[in-house]
Amino acid sequence: MLSAIALHELAGSDARLREALRAADLPTDDIEDEGRAFLEAVFDDGQTIGYAGLERCAGDYLLRSVVVLPEHRGHGFGRAIVEATLRGIGGDVFLATTSAAPFFSSIGFSEVLRTEVPAAVLATRQLSSICPSSATIMKLNRPPT
Ligand SMILES: CC(C)(COP(=O)(O)OP(=O)(O)OC[C@H]1O[C@@H](n2cnc3c(N)ncnc32)[C@H](O)[C@@H]1OP(=O)(O)O)[C@@H](O)C(=O)NCCC(=O)NCCS
Repeated sequence: MLSAIALHELAGSDARLREALRAADLPTDDIEDEGRAFLEAVFDDGQTIGYAGLERCAGDYLLRSVVVLPEHRGHGFGRAIVEATLRGIGGDVFLATTSAAPFFSSIGFSEVLRTEVPAAVLATRQLSSICPSSATIMKLNRPPT
């Protein structure tokens, strides 16, 4: 049941986070660098569902390290984790993905060109060196204010 999910912060040095990212082929090289915040999503019995991370880039954010453990995929948890992670944050939200663009499209992100991405986001290790240049860069669509 989605309402039974809780998110709490954990350190980038957490071994289970690293293993979940490694198993999903997501970057781990920079998870212990400064300026990242990671969240673990758990059921109310304490069982881990997945993880997500946010990296502050001046006034904007890079959403990263979104992973649902394989046994929990396909039940709406990925969407719930992303929505809970982004709740209440200001600024624009970007991400880079090599394989999950359709998932992020379904929750409100659209592909953008590198020329449309702020310099602070382009300067993250993910966008400047870790992710292949073929990765899709996406931005969260915000309703006009
Ligand atoms: C991508 C991932 C987080 C999705 O988690 P999930 O819990 O299975 O996704 P959800 O069940 O919340 O799906 C939400 C929506 O996205 C769609 N979706 C999920 N994965 C999809 C995929 N690979 N391709 C197309 N659509 C997808 C679902 O059909 C659903 O759409 P709907 O609301 O219209 O039914 C999960 O598959 C995963 O951990 N993958 C490995 C790591 C990864 O690629 N992370 C993203 C890079 S940062």
